[in-house]
Amino acid sequence: MTDRYAVVWTHTDTTPIKMGNLVATDREMRFSYTTEFLEHQDISGLSLLLPPTLWQTRPFIHAATEILPLLPRLMALIPGKNSNNIQRRIHTSLLAKLPRPPAPGFETEWELLMMTGHNGIGHIDVFRDDREATAFYATKPEPKHRVGSRSAFWNFLKDETSQEFSNAALDIVRLIGPTPSVGGQIPKLLVAIPDKKKWDGTIAEPGTRDIDGAAYTDVVMKVDDAQYRGLAALEDLCLDVHQELGFEVPRHWRASIDDLAVLAIERFDRTKNNLPIPMESFFSVYATGQQQVRTTTDAELEQVGAMLVKLSEIADINPDHAGLEVYRRLVMALLTGNGDLHLENLAFLGGPKNIRVAPVFDPAPMRAWDRHDLLSALPFYIDDKHGLRHSLVKLGEAFGVNNKNATEILQNFMDATKNYSERVVALSEVPDETRQKLAARVKALRTRLIK
Ligand SMILES: Nc1ncnc2c1ncn2[C@@H]1O[C@H](COP(=O)(O)OP(=O)(O)OP(=O)(O)O)[C@@H](O)[C@H]1O
Ligand SMILES: [Mg+2]
Repeated sequence: MTDRYAVVWTHTDTTPIKMGNLVATDREMRFSYTTEFLEHQDISGLSLLLPPTLWQTRPFIHAATEILPLLPRLMALIPGKNSNNIQRRIHTSLLAKLPRPPAPGFETEWELLMMTGHNGIGHIDVFRDDREATAFYATKPEPKHRVGSRSAFWNFLKDETSQEFSNAALDIVRLIGPTPSVGGQIPKLLVAIPDKKKWDGTIAEPGTRDIDGAAYTDVVMKVDDAQYRGLAALEDLCLDVHQELGFEVPRHWRASIDDLAVLAIERFDRTKNNLPIPMESFFSVYATGQQQVRTTTDAELEQVGAMLVKLSEIADINPDHAGLEVYRRLVMALLTGNGDLHLENLAFLGGPKNIRVAPVFDPAPMRAWDRHDLLSALPFYIDDKHGLRHSLVKLGEAFGVNNKNATEILQNFMDATKNYSERVVALSEVPDETRQKLAARVKALRTRLIK
């Protein structure tokens, strides 16, 4: 493989700025900050673990592995490898139309990063070179496009199996702009929707703030797919439940468009003026510099608690606040049948002076499906002799939550979610079998948690 070069840019409050240079070989990835970037003390760097103030111009070296040829933070900008990932399908279709399409494997991944690595979640923008970067930022905001709820776009989204898109379909994709990438299992796109109470399915390019005097806001838009029928309704319920309990939850909207169930969740990684707010997943922080960590479930929960303490030594994060927040999420994940609270479903937001745990996202109750029927995506020590309740309270210690407080949190959340199973069963859009399985699993769990 020949060496590959790229540049990383980001945005200050007023202007785009080059963060650093990147080179990837088949053995390693190297990154170094530019001196220009180092003069700004107020912008987050490539990762919370690589603070520019400490790192300075030293090159950071990441040893390439099959799964993580690049730093986890950059891998997060490449569309996920599962077959129903809509962005991967779109962008590999576009690559296949090139005169010399890239070979499968790293060559393709790299080209995908060049296409999807900017204007995505968070504040890291990757480009082939500085010219491409400046051209990207110089693009004047064009008249924004709007896609109505009756558009061919929705038919295109319904076509879940196609790996080869027609030119007409690709034109639709161009219409909504260069779709930045979002990881994960569920088909989704980053778009803007009208900032109103009710949503009729109208969408526009991400970053749109206004069309004909109507305000728009950026969202992550998730589309129900055949594998997980009913997920949009279930995730919507779980967002509501978290909100009722005082968690910070983004605004969210449901719509049903041409029989397609859709959930839109307001993005918290953008300011009102469309400036990026840094966001980095727990996985990126945990896996950076730890070669044995390869997947988003390669950690025990107790180690996640230890990571928060370690991180607070080099980043401006309060480990007690972060620990308490993560512990509360864990308890809720158990009580709602989430089973999927892995390291990519928790993130850090903001920086470098005010880093905190990001608001709730992806609280979907995945235990409704047999293949995700896990008590917890990340393992923790369960003391069989003393039972689950005792073990969960003990787990609090790893997050700085003493036994008394942990018991109180558990009891409060148990009380507040008493009718959760009934609310699940009442969701008529969710297939009956799915509702019944989730309700039964949640009830069984609750009996294990009763004093
Ligand atoms: N409201 C939001 N604001 C900013 N970023 C978000 C928001 N919701 C999701 N994201 C980002 O998008 C990514 C994918 O979204 P999400 O986790 O909700 O779905 P998913 O990953 O497909 O589900 P799964 O984790 O089951 O695979 C998240 O990991 C996160 O980086
Ligand atoms: Mg997720």
